[in-house]
Amino acid sequence: MFAARRALTGAAQRRAFSASARDMSKVTVLGAAGGIGQPLSLLLKLNPRVSELALYDIRGGPGVAADISHINTKSTVTGYDPTPSGLAAALKGAEIVLIPAGVPRKPGMTRDDLFNTNASIVRDLAKAAAESAPDANILVISNPVNSTVPIVAEIFKAKGVYNPKRLFGVTSLDVVRASRFVSEIKKTDPVDENITVVGGHSGVTIVPLFSQSSHPDLVGNADLLQRVQFGGDEVVKAKDGAGSATLSMAMAGARFAESLLKAAQGQKGVVEPTFVDSPLYKDQGIDFFASRVELGPNGVEKIFDVGKVNAEEQKLLDAALADLKKNINKGVVFVAENP
Ligand code: NAD
Ligand code: LMR
Repeated sequence: MFAARRALTGAAQRRAFSASARDMSKVTVLGAAGGIGQPLSLLLKLNPRVSELALYDIRGGPGVAADISHINTKSTVTGYDPTPSGLAAALKGAEIVLIPAGVPRKPGMTRDDLFNTNASIVRDLAKAAAESAPDANILVISNPVNSTVPIVAEIFKAKGVYNPKRLFGVTSLDVVRASRFVSEIKKTDPVDENITVVGGHSGVTIVPLFSQSSHPDLVGNADLLQRVQFGGDEVVKAKDGAGSATLSMAMAGARFAESLLKAAQGQKGVVEPTFVDSPLYKDQGIDFFASRVELGPNGVEKIFDVGKVNAEEQKLLDAALADLKKNINKGVVFVAENP
């Protein structure tokens, strides 16, 4: 038996490794019964890299879990009651914690208008995560992302467990949208349209860099820029008071989780756009910035800089940086004043 084990080929060893890594991938969703939480949990249940799914919400977690648990994929699904012990159990042992908990926009609101409600929701969930899953990758979806990510960082710092490589603001939806909108204009397959989007996740902080794409002629296309920067508003308006993007966001969030799992299981060259603790503009007092990030077993492996931009894009970037600084500071001040 030992000889047979020794005789495992490299490929078989890799398979054995990835199977055991897969076996350990617990993913937790906080806000699992919401508009994003439900389809996100569904997509995670369909992902063979996920072995255990923990679904927590202040209402409805067990119901969503019971429903999803009937899907015939191998992962186990557990719903948790909204008690401190339920939350702790949902978080314990998680490799990835996705946070779509919080209120969405209604027409006429900015993402920043959600701050007063969502800041304390994210703060409290971050406290629980810092206590029960200090080593997990934390993926923040709740808006305003430019402020909620710094809130999580401040809480983890206060608890002495902050690891900047494992905290991510989910901005994938901006890139998903940019790729789709460009493909509609150019009549191409969106799979071939990799558009770099940097900055943050709200209005002018969302900066697409078309000069770096295969369609540099799109720089200066005001309608396209408007759609990428304010794509969220399109959905808010169309839903007419019933919330904001949920299904496309679930897809974007599930893609990001899948990328992290692939990277954790040894795949190289996995790159996603995300809002992270970044060195790129720290000299300007901006501690978080979204750019292309290579993921690895330890979370952030490499942060790519924004690359070459033209004068028009530089103006957009300058506007983004000014807003970002305020948004980040708002999150930091909130935790200082409301620890
Ligand atoms: P929703 O109201 O449909 O769902 C939110 C869920 O969070 C609800 O089920 C609610 O019960 C739950 N919740 C509230 N407080 C909680 C707490 N303390 N603990 C656990 N669960 C709690 O909203 P939604 O449409 O799913 O949107 C959720 C958030 O995601 C919003 O803030 C929205 O702005 C944001 N969002 C972000 C992106 C992005 O790109 N990052 C995209 C779309 C939406
Ligand atoms: C989005 O981009 O769709 C989300 O941030 C939700 C919103 O409020 O627009």
